[in-house]
Amino acid sequence: MKTLWIVSGGVEAVPGIRRAKEMGLYVVVSDMDPDAPGFEDADDRVIASTYDVPATVEAALRYHRTIRRIDGVMCIAADVPLTVASVADALGLPGISVETALLASDKLAMKERFVRCGIPVPWFSPVDTVEHLKEVVAQRGFPLVIKPVDSRGARGVLRLDPGIDLEWAWCHALGHSPTGRVMVEEYLDGQQVSTESVIIGETACTPGFGDRNYEYLDRFAPYIIENGGQQPTVLSGEDKDAISRLAEDAARAMGIERGVAKGDMVLTEEGPKVIEVAARLSGGWFSTDQIPLATGVDLVGAAIKLALGEDVTPQELLPRYTRGVAIRYFFPEPGRVVEIKNMERFADTPWVHRLVSFVRRGDVLGAVTNHTQRAGFVITVGDTRDEAVSRAVEVVDTVRIETVPVGGTEPI
Ligand SMILES: Nc1ncnc2c1ncn2[C@@H]1O[C@H](COP(=O)(O)OP(=O)(O)OP(=O)(O)O)[C@@H](O)[C@H]1O
Ligand SMILES: [Mg+2]
Repeated sequence: MKTLWIVSGGVEAVPGIRRAKEMGLYVVVSDMDPDAPGFEDADDRVIASTYDVPATVEAALRYHRTIRRIDGVMCIAADVPLTVASVADALGLPGISVETALLASDKLAMKERFVRCGIPVPWFSPVDTVEHLKEVVAQRGFPLVIKPVDSRGARGVLRLDPGIDLEWAWCHALGHSPTGRVMVEEYLDGQQVSTESVIIGETACTPGFGDRNYEYLDRFAPYIIENGGQQPTVLSGEDKDAISRLAEDAARAMGIERGVAKGDMVLTEEGPKVIEVAARLSGGWFSTDQIPLATGVDLVGAAIKLALGEDVTPQELLPRYTRGVAIRYFFPEPGRVVEIKNMERFADTPWVHRLVSFVRRGDVLGAVTNHTQRAGFVITVGDTRDEAVSRAVEVVDTVRIETVPVGGTEPI
């Protein structure tokens, strides 16, 4: 029986942990939280922060030497490529190199690599000071995007439009960078797409391909908040192929030779461009739920096999069918949650795949400024994309997360 170490036992990792168990593996899960939901299905549990590279490496080495031989390591729905690559490196396991993981953890280094490899990206530049930012704005004009070089979940990401307070924007982005580094980019206009590719040496497949929804750009400005997504894409087969090829080339440019790559792509008037590529399975229930629902492809199973050094064939990554799948998030008004109404109406609805509220009565919600603050979501299926979308919209319009304003003296 092979042993797989999964870094992170978060709720979104649970389907992947279960998939590994179904594949007959002995599963070890590491997470800082003793109550991590993923611990329940694990054979062994190790307390170690997913972000703490030395702690996880040390724990894995100790486990490998004294308890059981580990055959593979991966993460599921956690953005910790450096932790995974470092464990793989220390134990001599298959996986991406530490160098690739470092590129995946640094948006500036990644884009510099892309430019060197001829991968189209938005114009970008590091910005060291507010004065520098003002010079960039004077030279390039609006709209631009400012972001921390090394954060996640859209924390600190802002669209810069006329009238924005540049000093505030720079400080905001800086405040979300653990290493105090900020970059600015050209804002790319066009359909935003999520891709998920599997690179297997010379071949590659992109079974994950979903359109991202940004209907609320104005409502949340200057924050850039995605309010959902859907499959299959509205794009033509030609555009889809071009974006898929670019996602695969970008993954290779980062040094991913065998592994999964999650792309954030935009189809601009000049063709597809890359916002970033993550060297791991996606979160947000995309790899674990939305892609399998839409295509029948067992992406997580393929990623598990790659982590174990086993063969994956392109055939198993080809869509088996096409079904409509949509996700939409809840965005209640800021304030104290007094009631969550109508969730139960969808308890037995067959086309509701998952319906989750992250908030409870009594929680105090601030304004949404990044993706981690969304209040919940629904994933729906349908025969077509439009059917899945209208069902998801029906759910977000029916479920009411009611809030009352919080008095000025109460902290949010
Ligand atoms: N240059 C850009 N042009 C257009 N949209 C952008 C640009 N940069 C970022 N965005 C949008 O903002 C989102 C968040 O930015 P980015 O991916 O850089 O940050 P993140 O912290 O990695 O967020 P996430 O974890 O949600 O991917 C992107 O997925 C994209 O939709
Ligand atoms: Mg991103």
